[in-house]
Amino acid sequence: MFPAMNARTWPVVAFSALLLPACGGGESGPSYYQDVQPILAGRCINCHRSGGIAPFALDSYELAKDAAAAIKPAVVSRRMPPWSAAAADAAYQHDPSLTDAQIDLIAHWADAQAPEGDPDAPGPALDPVGGGLDRIDREIVMAEPYRPKTSPDDYHCFAIEWGAEEDTYVTGFNAVPGNPEIVHHIAVYLITPANLPEMRKWEDSEEGNGWTCFGGPMAEGGANVPIALLSAWIPGYSGSSFPEGHGIKVPKGSYMVLQVHYNTLSGNEDPDQTKLQFRVANEVSTPLSYAPFLNAGWVLGTMDIPANQKDVEHSYIADPRGLLELFVELDLTRGFKIHAVMFHMHKLGDRGRFALLKPGVPARTLLNIEKWDFDWQREYFFEDPPVFENGDQLSLKCVFDNTKAKQICSGGTCREPEDTNWGEGSTEEMCVANMLVSPL
Ligand code: HEC
Repeated sequence: MFPAMNARTWPVVAFSALLLPACGGGESGPSYYQDVQPILAGRCINCHRSGGIAPFALDSYELAKDAAAAIKPAVVSRRMPPWSAAAADAAYQHDPSLTDAQIDLIAHWADAQAPEGDPDAPGPALDPVGGGLDRIDREIVMAEPYRPKTSPDDYHCFAIEWGAEEDTYVTGFNAVPGNPEIVHHIAVYLITPANLPEMRKWEDSEEGNGWTCFGGPMAEGGANVPIALLSAWIPGYSGSSFPEGHGIKVPKGSYMVLQVHYNTLSGNEDPDQTKLQFRVANEVSTPLSYAPFLNAGWVLGTMDIPANQKDVEHSYIADPRGLLELFVELDLTRGFKIHAVMFHMHKLGDRGRFALLKPGVPARTLLNIEKWDFDWQREYFFEDPPVFENGDQLSLKCVFDNTKAKQICSGGTCREPEDTNWGEGSTEEMCVANMLVSPL
């Protein structure tokens, strides 16, 4: 059961064990207070605390000890903390992934029956992940509290008026759930004045507060409008600011549509009234825009995903700018920088890859999703934004699994696999790499 990485990790453990007697410890292997608690505190308890989204808390020795047998496989498999970007030819900001050494520490601690160690000699805290907003210039909030109508999952959209008197630029974003025990993830879409009539139809499609929506902001059966994703949020993410001088234009008269995935497994029945926080500027030196990369042919019906088939692969290679001209107001004729990317498939998605192709050099994988999880989709911000220049191409690959095991279940029964294709619905599929770009 000991992976090859031990050779690299044990010296670290042995080294800390050598130091421990001096700090009053004396344990020979990893212990909770010296080794495990700092990792849990820095990477887990933002969700695993009472009142957090995770189904159980891990913020005391007793709780961690009782969960040790479950914690080990969750971290060894890299299911926890949730972060779908596997190793690629890129580094990301705010990456909460555990290092091999941290995973090994936790595994050995769990194998050794979760020793407590010395509470008076705690190990050093980890560096926090997530930038946070350095200032909040504008807050908007859901008009009314909402109580999820379907259980355990409810995907619901809410329109919120932006309200600024002038055109502005969003330069940073954060969300603050009203009921953090039920808000599993949030996507925010910008609806510009031209698209308001369509948004009103989505609103009118359902009585009461907001409307049911799944893969984007539209109501089931609603027309597609050019969608501008503004940002996304998952629990434990404290928001972030774009690089200095960068921002996304929000015309006056716009609305934000907040798509919230509610998960009610915690049993908490309080309503939610989520608040969005923005950093804004009147002008920016580098305008940003969301730029979806996809094959227009798929949207027109060529993305067949036959029933009962595993490993159904769809891929596409192109210079995206022909299509982007329809959505993106920025002039990308000289090329663009890719600041962030958010992968998007629905529930049959299994894995995917997004890569940059430059003439004469091997493909550079910018995002490698080995295990797609619809419920943990998020934006990945590059440490060092890759540059798309004239002559380059982008490559996108999505692999779907349309067998029985991947079907949506409710109340203990799962639907039968059916042939499917591109669409907004929860049983239809998508394959998009949503980039955040700025012109060169
Ligand atoms: C962003 C929020 C979040 C963070 C951070 C997080 N968890 Fe979780 N965790 C969850 C949720 C929600 C579930 C319930 C299952 C699901 O939705 O995937 C869960 C489930 C689990 C489970 C039980 C199910 C399984 O997958 O094995 C374990 C064990 C676990 N987490 C441990 C951890 C540990 C250890 C860390 C830190 C290294 C961590 N989690 C970080 C949200 C989080």
